[in-house]
Amino acid sequence: MNIAIDGPAGAGKSTIARLAAKKLGFLYVDTGAMYRAIALYLLWNETDIDDEEELKKALERININIVYENNVQHVFLNFQDVSAEIRSEKVSIMASKTSALQPVRDKLLNLQKDIATKNNVIMDGRDIGTNILPNAEVKIYLDASVEVRAKRRFDEMKNKGENPDLESIKLNIIARDEQDMNRKIAPLKKAEDATLIDSSYMSIDQVVDKIISLEREAN
Ligand code: C5P
Repeated sequence: MNIAIDGPAGAGKSTIARLAAKKLGFLYVDTGAMYRAIALYLLWNETDIDDEEELKKALERININIVYENNVQHVFLNFQDVSAEIRSEKVSIMASKTSALQPVRDKLLNLQKDIATKNNVIMDGRDIGTNILPNAEVKIYLDASVEVRAKRRFDEMKNKGENPDLESIKLNIIARDEQDMNRKIAPLKKAEDATLIDSSYMSIDQVVDKIISLEREAN
């Protein structure tokens, strides 16, 4: 059984998917973390991503591994756990840019498909229902207004003791959505057979319950 969840930045995909996976006993796979790990490598190495040869050589040096510890996904970049480092805004912006490049997507395609073949998964990302798991039994497109998404991200950062700026978070989200939806390869869009959930005015529990009921219906 595979559940695909796609949607724009900050729609709450990972929070919802993690909770639903726990309730269902599924593996939660955060594909954004994989794109982020590649982006981190390219940032650390100051790779010129417009130079195709340089990009390809860099990608050959990248080894991405996903390890689960108590059902929590850890991303390893060349055998170093980078799960914390990939969460910065700088990496978010870079990941959105580099995930539009074909060689970057090719690098992760099989890894993602392979995990879904071997496990019951809830996999979240941008092209899971449309491209990675077109035969997923349940497909969800999770959306929320830009204002709500920006405010959620703002609150999350505040809770971590950071000093965020709401307006710049909002602009960042808009820019990432724009890039993710308008790229040529595997753009973010709702799969025709996906259920649209607008979580703007829903609680986390309500969204999780909706996903569980969709999974039951599919069984
Ligand atoms: O979901 P998250 O915000 O961690 O993803 C970071 C970036 O990775 C996204 O903005 C998107 O550009 C890219 N991504 C993607 N395809 C996926 C998952 C993420 O292109 N399946």
